[in-house]
Amino acid sequence: MRLVVGPEIVGRVLARPVELPDGGRLLSAGRRLEESDVAYLRAFGVTAVEVDEEPGAAPDRAAAGRPASASVRTAEGVRPPADRPPETPRPPAPAHEGAWRAAVEGALRRTALGAPPPIADLRAIVRSWFAEDARPTAWVRLVRVRPEAAEDPAERLAVHALSVGRLAAALARLLGLADGEVMQVALAGLLADVGMWRLPPRLLRHPGVYAPEERRDMERHTALGYERLKGRLGLSPEAALAALLHHERMNGSGYPSGLPGERIPLLVRIVAAADSLAAGASARPYRPAKSWWTIVSEIAASAAYDLALRQAMLESIRRLPAGTTVRFADGRSARLLRVDAARPLLWELEADGALLPLSALPDVVAVDPPDEAGG
Ligand SMILES: [Fe+2]
Repeated sequence: MRLVVGPEIVGRVLARPVELPDGGRLLSAGRRLEESDVAYLRAFGVTAVEVDEEPGAAPDRAAAGRPASASVRTAEGVRPPADRPPETPRPPAPAHEGAWRAAVEGALRRTALGAPPPIADLRAIVRSWFAEDARPTAWVRLVRVRPEAAEDPAERLAVHALSVGRLAAALARLLGLADGEVMQVALAGLLADVGMWRLPPRLLRHPGVYAPEERRDMERHTALGYERLKGRLGLSPEAALAALLHHERMNGSGYPSGLPGERIPLLVRIVAAADSLAAGASARPYRPAKSWWTIVSEIAASAAYDLALRQAMLESIRRLPAGTTVRFADGRSARLLRVDAARPLLWELEADGALLPLSALPDVVAVDPPDEAGG
């Protein structure tokens, strides 16, 4: 049966796959539809889907190969889907970071050249983070200091994009955003720096601090990225705007326009904070990585970032469970005993049976809550 895309489809099983006219498969037959799928389908302009008669009925395997006849909105307007033979199924989502990095690098490179961003592939990566990063403290574990800068700018940009996307999703979760919004924040984070791929390679290989005109050229990555993302199917207008505005700051100190905070959408504010957390944790050719403690305390104290987000970050640190592993730059680690309630970046730790007094910890490189360590 055919249902209009809305709350009625939640819990139903897709009888036929949903595909775009260009052949991209959005959802496979047999999938039980979730609330987040409604926003997803709407983002692609899909207005109706074929579902099984009974909620929860077994998928119609005979029909599974045939795409649903969903109307799809394109830049030119609404048009019916192409009548096409069954498509070869997409490969499964990459299951580890190396594969994610390769997929993201390819996606950014092609998008920078003018191809549509491969939203379905990026969504598959983001979805694999959802279960792992569901806890409010997930962002704490995702701020991971990388002391070695990758030589190759393409690799460096792809690693950064993955960190920003995943951190942005975790921060969106921390603020209580719904799945569909978390997905858009993650996509925005993954794609925010796509304009970097359009800059002259000499800028990306630059060894030191930029001269003023080089800095201006570098700052153009925001507009160059937005040009590639605006109006793309599957990406909300705010997610596309993140490319243009992720260096704007709440106190108006950012670029390219020095916009004041109230003009910056929440999604972009989240990406901006994630971008700064990820950038601080990575070494650059011209500076070493900062420590976990330095990055987090700088952002928590800075009026450049969204206040509610900073408060939520500090609150989740305040609630870090005893037993959280704190790792130091020299390879040693300690166990968290207590966070100071009034000053959540002062921690009491135990290492090798000795008590370390409540103190600031500038050489922390990673913090792993106990139920997430190794995850
Ligand atoms: Fe950027």
